[in-house]
Amino acid sequence: MNRLRLGVNIDHVATIRNARGAGYPEPARAAELALAAGADGITAHLREDRRHISDADIEVLAGLCLKRGKPLNFEMAVTEEMVGIALRHRTHAVCLVPERREEVTTEGGLNVVAGHNHIAPAVQKLREAGSRVSLFIEADPAQVAASAQIGAQVLELHTGAYCDAFRAGEFDRAGTILKRLQAGARQAGDLGLEVHAGHGIDFATVKPVAAIPQLTELNIGHFLIGEAIFTGLAPAIQPMRALMDAARAEIAA
Ligand code: PXP
Repeated sequence: MNRLRLGVNIDHVATIRNARGAGYPEPARAAELALAAGADGITAHLREDRRHISDADIEVLAGLCLKRGKPLNFEMAVTEEMVGIALRHRTHAVCLVPERREEVTTEGGLNVVAGHNHIAPAVQKLREAGSRVSLFIEADPAQVAASAQIGAQVLELHTGAYCDAFRAGEFDRAGTILKRLQAGARQAGDLGLEVHAGHGIDFATVKPVAAIPQLTELNIGHFLIGEAIFTGLAPAIQPMRALMDAARAEIAA
């Protein structure tokens, strides 16, 4: 069974920094520590409103990841501005996400079915520049099929609804959503796409997600950065890594 990569999203280090308008804590320092603690890559979302990660952060993180030989996964909305920034940095990996100004986090997946004409040219431009393009979608058969059709190489399945249901103690609902994630991953794998997952994952929810055999990467941010306040980044990341590895070992057995 393939080893599952862990991408650590460091957006909320910038959230804390920006709360004071100060220069610290630095997302780049978090990225260094996360990589040293076993993260396989760094994820950062440059939002249109720059509420956390800034343009300067992307510049620094792109350089740092290049130096360390680790991928920077650049999360972005499908806008001309963001496509331009991604092209300028020649980011290794790009994840296209829906973005609404009033949302507190990325709520729901990209509507690739309805947004086909808008999203397809962005995917093409980014791929031509050498980026590996991922689309962040709900595990919905029509969205998976549309994503493959417009040339995405990777799908990231939104795990937020599963994690919310699990944390609310609604285990039947969580089970139903998990089945949808499993089916979406199977469909994407059959279409030849690489499959990732992320959003809302914590220690309690990671194993059932990590046990989906087609997955090759999880992207986790909010929980790890929150946990790091109490324990430090490495003691937050290392047990997550261990839970992911344990889930893979169990399905391989
Ligand atoms: N993947 C994508 C595409 C996201 O937008 C986010 C949140 O920025 C994450 C993963 C990580 O989610 P969380 O911060 O809830 O772990």
